[in-house]
Order: sequence, then structure tokens, then C-alpha cells
Amino acid sequence: TERTLSIIKPDATKRNLTGKINAKFEDAGLRIIAQKRIQLTQEQAGKFYDVHRERPFFGELTEFMASGPVVVQVLEGEGAIAKNREVMGATNPADAAAGTIRAEFAESVGENSVHGSDAPETAKEEIAFFFSGLELVG
Ligand code: GTP
Ligand code: MG
Repeated sequence: TERTLSIIKPDATKRNLTGKINAKFEDAGLRIIAQKRIQLTQEQAGKFYDVHRERPFFGELTEFMASGPVVVQVLEGEGAIAKNREVMGATNPADAAAGTIRAEFAESVGENSVHGSDAPETAKEEIAFFFSGLELVG
């Protein structure tokens, strides 16, 4: 089975949506095998989103990710990376399919409620960014 890194972003934790979002993951057959609520600094958010450093929205993105608590979690299941991205929906909520997390909860392309790893290699790196092996209880 596969593992992926998920983040419930500040716009969603502020609106008390953690449980509703977790229910979407569990209903799709994903298991939450690690989870913690943390407050990132803008510098830590920048390190996490380093691939986007040259993008015009980098400052906005890192400021947003440090604007409140996030819930970081590891989801496990068959094809977890693709399945999670399917449950999340498109980056821009205006393009997200009905029933997806972003269609139901996201406020804008920036404040879009969740992050999910996009490939096996990035999933591995992103899980190691937040969790030690001992914290993953499958
Ligand atoms: P993540 O799971 O968060 O990585 O989203 P994604 O893979 O669907 O999108 P992508 O990796 O292309 O962009 C990363 C994040 O940057 C998005 O989730 C948004 O929060 C943010 N982002 C992307 N495009 C824009 C934009 O045009 N403006 C702003 N403010 N933020 C953006
Ligand atoms: Mg991405």
C-alpha cells in the first residue's frame, strides 16, 4: 500500500473543518496513520514549498501557510497519492468536481483547504519533512 502527505491548510482549520475533511478521506478508503496540528513559520512553509520559490505567488502562499494552524497527516491506502488528489479536487475550486474537498470547502485558488503530495518521490520527501518513522502507525 502507498502513503501520501496531506495538509489541512489554515483556511480550513480556522473554519473548524478538520473532521469534515478527514471524513472525506476515510470515506474514500484512506487511513490516517499519522496526524498532528502545528503552526508553521513562514520560513518553514517556504522550505516545504521550495519548488514554488520562483513563482509569483510564493510570498502569498508562504504567508498564508503560516497564518494559522495546519494539520499535517499521512494517509495510507491502495493508490493513496492519486486517490487523495481525486478527493481533493482541482487546485482552483472553480474547476473542482462536485463532492471534492476543494469544491465544497476551498475559498480561492490560494486558500484551497488542502495539500496532497503529487508523486511517490515527493510523498516520501514530504512525509520525512514532518514525521519520523516512529510516528507512522499503519
Ligand atoms: P498542493 O497540493 O497544495 O501542492 O496543490 P496543487 O498541487 O493542486 O497545486 P500546485 O502544486 O500547483 O500549487 C501549490 C499551491 O500553491 C496551491 O495549492 C495553492 O495553495 C497555491 N497556488 C497555486 N496557484 C496560485 C495562485 O495563482 N495564487 C495563489 N495565491 N496561490 C496559488
Ligand atoms: Mg502541488
